[in-house]
Amino acid sequence: MQGILFPRGVVEGRENLQAYRARGGYEALAQALKGFSPGQILQEIADSGLRGRGGAGFPTGKKWAFTAESTETPHYMVLNGGEDEPGSKKDRLLMENLPHLVLEGLILASYAVKASKAYLYINAIYEEATRSMSDALAEAKAAGYWGEKINAGGDFSLEILLSPAPANYVAGEDTAALEVIEGKQPLPRQKPPFPATAGLFGKPTAVNNVETLANVAPIIAHGAKWYRSFGTAESPGTMIFSMNEEVHRPGVYELPFGTPLRYLIEDCGGGVKSGNRIKAIQPGGPSSAYLPGEKIDIPLDHNSVRQAGSAIGCGVVHPITTESCIVEETLRIAEFFSVESCGQCPACRMETNMLAAMLKKVQQGQGGQPILDQFAKVIAFNKGKGFCNLVNMPGPPIESALRLFRADFDSHLANGRCPQG
Ligand SMILES: Cc1cc2nc3c(=O)[nH]c(=O)nc-3n(C[C@H](O)[C@H](O)[C@H](O)COP(=O)(O)O)c2cc1C
Repeated sequence: MQGILFPRGVVEGRENLQAYRARGGYEALAQALKGFSPGQILQEIADSGLRGRGGAGFPTGKKWAFTAESTETPHYMVLNGGEDEPGSKKDRLLMENLPHLVLEGLILASYAVKASKAYLYINAIYEEATRSMSDALAEAKAAGYWGEKINAGGDFSLEILLSPAPANYVAGEDTAALEVIEGKQPLPRQKPPFPATAGLFGKPTAVNNVETLANVAPIIAHGAKWYRSFGTAESPGTMIFSMNEEVHRPGVYELPFGTPLRYLIEDCGGGVKSGNRIKAIQPGGPSSAYLPGEKIDIPLDHNSVRQAGSAIGCGVVHPITTESCIVEETLRIAEFFSVESCGQCPACRMETNMLAAMLKKVQQGQGGQPILDQFAKVIAFNKGKGFCNLVNMPGPPIESALRLFRADFDSHLANGRCPQG
C-alpha cells in the first residue's frame, strides 16, 4: 500500500540526504521559504486538517497558531521523540529510517511558528534514532537547510539542538519534556498556561510528536487538498499503527484513517498467533478502553473509535484472544501506570497505587463484589486532579473491563483464578 510517510507503507531502511532529495525531499522547504509567508504555511497545515499523533489528536494548525501569534519572543519548536508507550515504535522507526522527512517537517514547523530555536527531544535509549537524526542534522546543515544562513531563507535562521529524553513514560508529556530541556527533572507542569504560549523558558513553544511533524513536508509539497484525499473528513491522512507479538507479523503499518481494524489485524498482521477468537481489542495503547472483539470491523479514525467507546491514542493496537484473562491484562496495565506515575500530584500517586492494589486483590480472589463497586468511585474522585493526563489513564481500561468482561472478575472472586483455569 502506498503511504504518505513510508513510500510503500512499510519501513525500508535509512534514507540519506541524497536519496531523500532524489524523491523530492527539501523541495517543500525551498518552495515555502521562497514563496510563502509563515502564515501561509500555517494556513496550509490548518486546511489539511492534520491532527497530532502523540495521543490526543489535537489539530496541529490550531496549536501552531497560538505560538505563531504570540508577541512574546523568542519562539521555540520541540520535536517530541520521548516515545515510551509500551508497544509503540513508530517514532523510533521514523527517526531511524526517514530522518530527513522528520527534519524537513521540523524546519517547516519552526518557520510557521516563527521559532528561532528547535530541539530534538529523543528517548535516550533510542541510540540508532539519535545517531540517524544527528547525522541528518549534519547533512542538512552542510546543505544549507538550517543554521545561521538558510538557502533562500531571507531573514529566517534556525538553530537545532539535540536533547536526550529520560527513558520513562512521563518524560514524554510535553511540559515534562520542557522541564528536561531546561535541565530539570521530568515533572509535568500545571496547566494553564499551555506551552503554546508559555513553554520553554516561559516563551511560546510548539511541541509536536515525531509522526505529526513527518506529515508536514508532504502536505506543503502536495497541498492540503491532496492530503485530504487520504483518510476521512475528520481524520485526514494516514496513521502509523503498531502491532506486537500477538500477531503473526508484528510491526508498524501506515494506513489511511478509516481503514477497518480487521484489515490491520488480519491482512497486515496476519491474524492472531493463538488462532483463538478475539475477545477484546485495545485500539489505542494501555490507556484506551477495551472494545469487544465483535467490533473488529470499525474504521480506524478518531471519531469512529470514539463512537465505539474507546480512543485511537498513538496507534498501538492490542488484540486479546479468549485464552487471556482481562483481569490479568488490566492488572498489568494498572501496575504500569502506578510505576510510571511521577508521584508529584497526590491524587495521581494515590489513585494509581490504589487501583493496582485493588486489582491485585481481585486477581487473588479477595474483596468480594463490593471491591468491584469501588473502582468507579476511586476513578471519578481523582479525575482531572493532576498536572498531566496520567491521572486519567488507568480509568478507561478498568471501567470497560468491568463493563464488558465481568465474568473474568467474577471468576477471580469466586475461585481465585481466571475463567480459563
Ligand atoms: C504521561 C504522558 C506521556 C506522553 N508521552 C508522549 C510521548 O512520548 N510522545 C509524544 O509525542 N507525546 C506524548 N504525550 C503527549 C504530549 O503531552 C503532547 O500532547 C504531544 O507531544 C503533542 O504532540 P502532537 O500535538 O503532535 O500530538 C504524553 C502525554 C502524557 C500525559
